Amino acid sequence: MRDFKIAPSILSANFACLGQEVEDVVASGADIIHFDVMDNHYVPNLTMGPMVCEALRKHGITAPIDCHLMVKPVDRLIGDFIDAGASYVTFHPEASEHIDRSLQLIRSHGCKAGLVFNPATPLSHLDYVMDKVDMILIMSVNPGFGGQSFIPAALDKLREARRRIDASGLPIRLEVDGGVGPDNIAEIARAGADTFVAGSAIFKARNLDDPNRYDGVIGKM
Ligand code: DX5
Ligand code: ZN
Repeated sequence: MRDFKIAPSILSANFACLGQEVEDVVASGADIIHFDVMDNHYVPNLTMGPMVCEALRKHGITAPIDCHLMVKPVDRLIGDFIDAGASYVTFHPEASEHIDRSLQLIRSHGCKAGLVFNPATPLSHLDYVMDKVDMILIMSVNPGFGGQSFIPAALDKLREARRRIDASGLPIRLEVDGGVGPDNIAEIARAGADTFVAGSAIFKARNLDDPNRYDGVIGKM
């Protein structure tokens, strides 16, 4: 049995009280906080930078923070996110001039490194760097926005990524991001994912009457 982890994407949280939102998802069973960084260049949207990650750490959040960098070029921001308290830094191969170097840069700071695959990006980018990744993230939507529908072709890609991980014998996490929720998570798990990002499915289901206000939805996942 795989070690499944739920990673709420705070892109869909209420930013006016972000610290409380993160505390609440952790209290409701979240394992990892997924932190989406968008630059209005690599993707057509603008979100948050390292100072927000640092603010969450200063607020007392100790859960792993998984920084998904949708920025180009990526290298000059890697150190800033690690200094700000990132536990994982993942990036898109298209956003790095030298993928191997960016992966090594992340690990050299004692952080876990990951590569992210857009729906049309081939897994062959892993061919020579499998021993340098701690996480493979399969995008099941095109990056840039929360609330999109899951692209079914991601299931085949997850199966292929799972084959590669099992063949490598390495402890690499297989994460999926986009359109994931209680209705499709079982099928996605069967395709090989072990780490599930969910933004709108979790934050739209907040129950303000419940002190563990995200229990209902995280409990179903
Ligand atoms: C999209 C982001 C996702 C997004 C997922 O570019 O990487 O993490 O927040 O949102 P949902 O779960 O709503 O598809
Ligand atoms: Zn993401």
